[in-house]
Amino acid sequence: MKVLGIETSCDETAAAVVEDGVKILSNQIASQVDIHARYGGIVPEVASRQHTLAIIPVIQQAMAEANVTWSDLAGIAVTTGPGLAGSLLVGVNVAKAIALAQRLPITGVNHLEGHIYANWLAPNTIDFPAVCLIVSGGHSDLVLMRGHGDYVLLGRTRDDAAGEAFDKSARILGLGYPGGPAIEQAAGKGSASIQLPRAWLKGTSDFSFSGVKTALLRLVEGNKISSEADAAASFQEAVIDVLVTKTIAAAEGHRVKQILVSGGVAANNLLRQRLVQNSPLPVLVPAPLLCTDNAAMIAACGYFRFKAGKVDGLELDVVPGLKLA
Ligand code: KG4
Ligand code: ZN
Repeated sequence: MKVLGIETSCDETAAAVVEDGVKILSNQIASQVDIHARYGGIVPEVASRQHTLAIIPVIQQAMAEANVTWSDLAGIAVTTGPGLAGSLLVGVNVAKAIALAQRLPITGVNHLEGHIYANWLAPNTIDFPAVCLIVSGGHSDLVLMRGHGDYVLLGRTRDDAAGEAFDKSARILGLGYPGGPAIEQAAGKGSASIQLPRAWLKGTSDFSFSGVKTALLRLVEGNKISSEADAAASFQEAVIDVLVTKTIAAAEGHRVKQILVSGGVAANNLLRQRLVQNSPLPVLVPAPLLCTDNAAMIAACGYFRFKAGKVDGLELDVVPGLKLA
């Protein structure tokens, strides 16, 4: 069963064809990163305009790469939220137009649930229950997954998301945009020698990353940073220390079988290594290209939604503040 996935929630225009929720037949991504880098962050109006320009060619490329025609598809999965309203609208309207013209069923996918399903796009055996750490530009959530489509929110960030903290701290250090890869690269040339605060929020699975970012800002403002690389390494260490410790504690506390990691920050090598090294439980992390925004994860999630009979009508709409649980 082949599903076309469409993803336009933020600044990547993406389309992919996935078979049976696990096998990637194509995975096309048109990134707007160079355009937004000029502004130091995402400009929503620019993002939606770029999506309208890119979406049709990206879908055509995904269909061609997978060597499929409309009649080979079982359905279309499209991200409905959370994300930027104007960006989401482009993907959802194109998906509905294709569904109508080609008489294909359509299912709306939660972007965060999509991130979790990137873990199915590898030869993994996934056992429930699992604890999912979703760390992206907009979210840092710990979620208990009891089965397909069955989630309990354990904790979330109370202020900045992990990726947001990476992006803001990179800006503070003058390392450019997007901040996650910039910090990781700079950190590779330094050592985590600067003590930065960690918000443990003991007894909860919540996170807080605004304190570490502010501490870094104070040091920069006071001219107390002699090495940007050391500052980047120290920041990265502080964030990852908290993410790893709290994720493992949640997994042990809920006696789950596995830890599933996803979202753009999961592309970070130190986070991946630390989780695998420290966890007594199996840890699954998608390949870096499947951690950041893509449509293969949306198609994978869509397959499991179709299998569960979750088909949406053409009244399907965007929900910019959509929650997972
Ligand atoms: O999942 P994603 O592509 O988009 C959202 O749904 O937000 O995540 C983007 C976030 C950005 O904040 C970016 O800086 C961060 O993921 N990121 C990283 C790395 N690659 C991307 N953070 C840390 N280390 C990385 N290597
Ligand atoms: Zn994302």
